[in-house]
This record gives sequence, C-alpha cells and structure tokens, in this order.
Amino acid sequence: MPVPVILDCDPGHDDAFNILLAAAHPAIDLLAITTVAGNQTLEKTTLNARRVCAAAGVRGVPIAAGRDRPLHGPRRIAEDIHGASGLDGPGFAQGEPDVPLDPRDAVTLVRDVLLARPEPVTLVPTGPLTNIAVLLLAHPELAGRIERIVLMGGSTDRGNTTPAAEFNILCDPEAADIVFRSGVPVTMFGLNATHQARATPEVVARIAELGTPLSALCVDLLTYFATTYREVFGFDAPPLHDPLTVAHLIDPSLVTVVRAAVAVELNGTHTRGATLVDLHGVTGRPADVEVGMEVDTEGFWDLIVEAVRTLGGRGTTS
Ligand code: RIB
Ligand code: CA
Repeated sequence: MPVPVILDCDPGHDDAFNILLAAAHPAIDLLAITTVAGNQTLEKTTLNARRVCAAAGVRGVPIAAGRDRPLHGPRRIAEDIHGASGLDGPGFAQGEPDVPLDPRDAVTLVRDVLLARPEPVTLVPTGPLTNIAVLLLAHPELAGRIERIVLMGGSTDRGNTTPAAEFNILCDPEAADIVFRSGVPVTMFGLNATHQARATPEVVARIAELGTPLSALCVDLLTYFATTYREVFGFDAPPLHDPLTVAHLIDPSLVTVVRAAVAVELNGTHTRGATLVDLHGVTGRPADVEVGMEVDTEGFWDLIVEAVRTLGGRGTTS
C-alpha cells in the first residue's frame, strides 16, 4: 500500500526534488504540500512549491502556506544558497503558476487531511519545524493520527549555518525541541547523511539525457545549486538533502539508521540549534529517534532520475 504523506517544505532546490520524488513514485500517496519560511520568505517558498508542481504536472495536491517566522527569535533565510527567488537557476514563467494556493493555512489543511484519513499519515518536514510544532501544540489530539515524522534536519556532528547548528533546526530551535519531545516517532536525516547524497556531474548528465523540459529544469536547478555550494562551502558537488526523507519511505534499505536520544540545544551561546545525538547511549535518555547514517547513493540517485523521467513532459516549465 502506498505511504500516505504530507510534505512540509521551504523550496528550496532540494525540497523541489523531494516534491518530484513524492509525486512520481507509486510507493507514495502525496496527500498535501505545506510551506514554511526557511530558504526564502514564506511568500517565495509557497510560490516555488506551486511552480514546481506546475512544471511537473502535479495536479490535485493541495498546497497551503504556513508560518512566516519561527516561534521565537529572528527569521533567517538562505539566499546565499538558493538565490533571491529561493529557486534560482531555471527561467520559470513569470506570474502565477497554474497550480492554485489552497485558501486554508498549513495547520488547518494538515488537520483536515489527518481527520479525513482512516489510517495515520506520515509527515515529512524538510524546512524549519514551525508548522509541525504549531500543529502539535494546537491539536494534541491529532498526534495519534500521525504515523511518524520523517524530517531533514540537524546532524550527528557539525552544523552548516553555525559550526554547531544545521539550518532547519537553527531557524526554529524551540519548534524542533517540541517535535523531538512530542512522543510522535521521529526519523531524522541530518547533514552527516545528506552530505553523502551529492549531485555529481555524472548524476546531472543522467538527468540531462532524459531530454524533457522537466529534466532541463532540473539540470538548471542542480547547476545553480552546485555553484552556490562550491562558493559557500567549497563542495565539489551539491548535497541533495531533502529527498533522503521520501527515498527512505520508498526503500528503507537506502539509508542505514540507528536509534539514539536526540536533544536540541536552546540556550548555548555558541551552540543554539545544535542536535546532540547520543550515539553511544551515555546520557541514559531513551534512544527514541531513528537517525540516518550511511546512504546507498547509487540507489538514491536511481530513484531521483526515475522520478524526473516519470514526470517528464507532464508539466509546463515556462
Ligand atoms: O541544511 C539543509 C536544509 O536547510 C535543507 O532542507 C535545505 O533545503 C534547507 O531547508
Ligand atoms: Ca528544505
């Protein structure tokens, strides 16, 4: 049976590929997409989610906008990585995409979807966790309708936005703390895993060879993403963080996982937003989080290329 999924995202180049993968693969039943401020402002991440769906011909999946700022602290964006639009690289058609914005806010849409489904739904957040935290705070009675939360965020070691903190967690540490301590099962794919999933020139060439308008758009996205990751981090190829979440749901063997206690640092002067992953059980806290570790990169990229092939030619890219 396909896994019923709601994506909560901040497109964002890698979020965009997660939308494609979830929409394309038969093992996933993509029920809804919600957006959050993160890589860019809420207005831009929401427009980008609609643009990606229009380009890929993804129809009938409601898209709703969520929170435009964290629960506490300043709003951050990652313009140096994703550009002024949040999805720089391709020449998207100007104006409104022909995929509508749902009139509900993100939390209302998720609540409605959870109440409408007989079986629990998997939430897949790949941006700051503000929407998920607000959902859990506003509707604690819905926690039993959430199968699990499979998120991209944090790291078992260093951060990427400060030496200690990864971007999604640092954007809203209080929200992340609420999610990790909610009691809902959490699977976490942090930088220690996602940095293995790099879009090498060979991968980009495989996508280019598909020869469709969508594959050309994907090449433009990855080419831009490669330039910023080279300029900012000195990477030889950009890591496609977010699709590890959906890839794991499709084929759990693609990424090894271990169970560990995870704590989010809220108060450290230099460490706020860090995820402290207790890999050796030294804290005595319950090892209640699944943490992604080793990636089968060949199998991962096969899924991504196949998703672009499957969707190719369905949408309108410009
Ligand atoms: O740190 C990487 C994460 O932050 C990814 O999800 C990226 O899209 C940004 O949201
Ligand atoms: Ca993201």
